[in-house]
Order: sequence, then structure tokens, then C-alpha cells
Amino acid sequence: MSLSIPSLRRFLYVSELAPTMPSTVVGQILRQSRERNHRLKLSGALLFDGERFCQLLEGEPDATHALMRRIERDTRHCKVKLLLDTLDPAPRLMTQWRCGYADHDAFDAIDAAAAGDPEQAAHAFLRLLPSCDLSS
Ligand SMILES: Cc1cc2nc3c(=O)[nH]c(=O)nc-3n(C[C@H](O)[C@H](O)[C@H](O)COP(=O)(O)O)c2cc1C
Repeated sequence: MSLSIPSLRRFLYVSELAPTMPSTVVGQILRQSRERNHRLKLSGALLFDGERFCQLLEGEPDATHALMRRIERDTRHCKVKLLLDTLDPAPRLMTQWRCGYADHDAFDAIDAAAAGDPEQAAHAFLRLLPSCDLSS
């Protein structure tokens, strides 16, 4: 008998609100995300600083990958830069899906960490969360 450990797909990216989009689309994105992420058992967080997004997304590999491809094609944002893309049996970094606001320039530290080690970028993202007034 073999014991199989369920694997987990994890993405971390930064992107920019599309130039033609009012920041009110963020509310629309959050409504869509809450419902679908809960249904698909996706965890992580979506942060917005008024101009840029940074999102950690993790869950069952196929569902997480399919959503990430949809997010990349979403015209409400642009310049999507993938900082982390892993598939491993590690436990989730977050147990639920959250959203919140980050200070301007807060994502620069995450982006810089990713240049050295993508896993460090995920930890920089987690360190930022307590200052982001999160809701679920
Ligand atoms: C920055 C950003 C983050 C998003 N995050 C999520 C998310 O976590 N979950 C989700 O279901 N949709 C998210 N979306 C919306 C998806 O891109 C897509 O519109 C949604 O899944 C509906 O796809 P569909 O119209 O093909 O069904 C996000 C969009 C943007 C621009």
C-alpha cells in the first residue's frame, strides 16, 4: 500500500490595475473571488495598494492552475509578474482566503525577495499581512 500525500499548487504574483480601470473594479473582483475560492477550497490572500495587486493563491493543483491562467488573462489588470509557482506536498501557508489593503511600495520588498529566492518572497508576503487590515 502506498501512502500518497496530496500535493499543493502555490502561486504568488504582482500585477497592476489596468490603466483604463477605475479602482472600483476591485470590489467586483473580491465578490467573484470570495465565492469561487471558497467553493474550490483555495486559500491565500489578495492585497491591493491602490495601484498594484499582490496575491498568494494555493490549493488543489488543477483548480489552482486553472484559476491562475484565468487571472493572467483578466483584462482588469496588466503586467502580471509571477514570483512563485510551486507544486509540493508542503502544508498550506494560509488556511483560508483573505483580502486587504497594503501600503504603497509594500510590494517592492516581496518583488526584491523573489529575485533571490521565490520561497522568501512568499515569506515576505506573509510578514506583510498583519499590517493589511484583512477581511475574508
Ligand atoms: C488581480 C485579480 C485577482 C483575482 N483573483 C481571483 C481569485 O482569487 N479567485 C477568483 O475566482 N477570481 C479571481 N479573479 C477573477 C478572475 O480573473 C476571473 O475573472 C474569474 O475567475 C471569473 O472567470 P470566468 O469569467 O472565466 O468564469 C481575479 C482577478 C484579478 C484581476
